[in-house]
Amino acid sequence: MMQPVGIFDSGVGGLSVLRAIRQILPSLPVIYVADQAHVPYGPRSLEEVRAFSEGVTRFLLSQNCQMVVVACNAASAAALTHLRRRFPQTPFVGMEPAVKPAAEQTLSGQVGVLATPATFQGALYASVVERFARGVVLYQDTCPGLVGQIEQGALDAPETRAILEKALQPMLIGGIDVVVLGCTHYPFVIPLIQQICGPQVRVIDPAPAVARQVQRLLNGAVRQDDPSPQLRFYTSGAPEKMAALLPNLLGETHPVGQLHWDGLTLSEGDTKHS
Ligand code: DGL
Repeated sequence: MMQPVGIFDSGVGGLSVLRAIRQILPSLPVIYVADQAHVPYGPRSLEEVRAFSEGVTRFLLSQNCQMVVVACNAASAAALTHLRRRFPQTPFVGMEPAVKPAAEQTLSGQVGVLATPATFQGALYASVVERFARGVVLYQDTCPGLVGQIEQGALDAPETRAILEKALQPMLIGGIDVVVLGCTHYPFVIPLIQQICGPQVRVIDPAPAVARQVQRLLNGAVRQDDPSPQLRFYTSGAPEKMAALLPNLLGETHPVGQLHWDGLTLSEGDTKHS
């Protein structure tokens, strides 16, 4: 049996990455962990997010995962380098804000970046800006409250629209023609973003590129004929709440298992909710 790939996020945002992975690797066995006991990661310190990311990774490796996808920009900013050093045998795929394609695609030279504070503070963001954004004006916004709205499944609520309008209006006045989604929760509100910005503004979701990177690293090792790949979902928050969101966010129904933090160690409880 093929070893699963582990995917984690602070919450349901990483499901946007899982969705993209499932589009090109439908037979891939996956274990998804949402650390909803600690969502949102974005306003926390990089040290704290790094400690949670290490705890989740240890859990995924204890479940025999062959690779870990850090499907969270905040955790990638805080922990990717650390995780690669700490677990040198494990391949990691992380998120980085898609400033490079945005800089290549903008005609106006003005680009909007939506991400959480941890992502903007991390060295990874500074490095992509330094390498790829020369001559481009970047408008940044942390969209306070947006992750919480998406965690509630409020993808189209008036409050969600208000948060996005507040972030995007100044950028539109500035003349942006590309928006980078630097948080894996945000692809779930692309329809709203596109409504606010209009069709002339391009919205970049990095999930498909991350999925292709996972495919490259697996190097053809996935059996394409497995009709029912093992997908396991866990949360350190409320399993029944997460299970209720899966049909809307992933288009699928799955049981969700309970995880508990004991200090910085994550382990499985015994209740499952569909
Ligand atoms: N989905 C995450 C990201 O990509 C984290 C959001 C949060 O927990 O603040 O940054």
